[in-house]
Amino acid sequence: MALVPYTETSFPALSKLHNASAHFRFANRDLHLAQDWKKLGVAAVVWDAAVVMCMYLEMGQVDLKGKVAIELGAGTGLVGIVAALLGSTVTITDREPALDLLSANVRTNLPPELHESVAVSELTWGENLQRYPAGGFDLVLGADIVYLEDTFVPLLQTLEHVCSDLSVVLLACKIRYERDTNFLAMLSQRFRTEEVYYEKQRDIHIFKAWKLPPVRDL
Ligand SMILES: C[S@@+](CC[C@H](N)C(=O)[O-])C[C@H]1O[C@@H](n2cnc3c(N)ncnc32)[C@H](O)[C@@H]1O
Repeated sequence: MALVPYTETSFPALSKLHNASAHFRFANRDLHLAQDWKKLGVAAVVWDAAVVMCMYLEMGQVDLKGKVAIELGAGTGLVGIVAALLGSTVTITDREPALDLLSANVRTNLPPELHESVAVSELTWGENLQRYPAGGFDLVLGADIVYLEDTFVPLLQTLEHVCSDLSVVLLACKIRYERDTNFLAMLSQRFRTEEVYYEKQRDIHIFKAWKLPPVRDL
């Protein structure tokens, strides 16, 4: 499903989504991400939130070296690839239809010595979560994954499953609709949440979140 009604000519600023590839330089490497909007839609293009997340990761505000990370809704995989280049072991996930393009991008953009540090894997939010270790990740990354109201509850369940009390969640968000802020309100009931970065040009917010201790009935 498209995030905005869009044809190739209607919004020149969005025409980059129709390019067969997108190019970036992060972690001292030129990265070339294959895109395929026509075949796979939102999962097969690099969104601004991913670019701003990579900028934020490069700033060094979050410790990535030796960390065990998972990326949710990875799309083309840019964020997971950059996290791996910056020293993390990363499980890069999305829904099944996105995985071929995602795997190809990971292979193309990581040097052979880092292939072992990355796994590409199917994860539909809220489903079969037992396949992923409960509380098993130091860092949970998500770029532009808050946009479908129907997914808010399963996305929150997924965050709760993969996080321990020590995990850090980083979400890069474009706030397009009021409902997007509803997710942030839901998140802040279970996670301590703070905005740590805002990129004005692309209008992307980065939120950091930590799981709150469970509320115990007396
Ligand atoms: C707007 S795209 C963002 C892609 C990428 N993170 C980026 O910023 O370039 C949203 C991503 O969330 C994924 N997604 C949507 N609903 C999902 C669900 N229920 N479970 C898992 N992934 C989902 C889509 O397949 C897509 O890759």
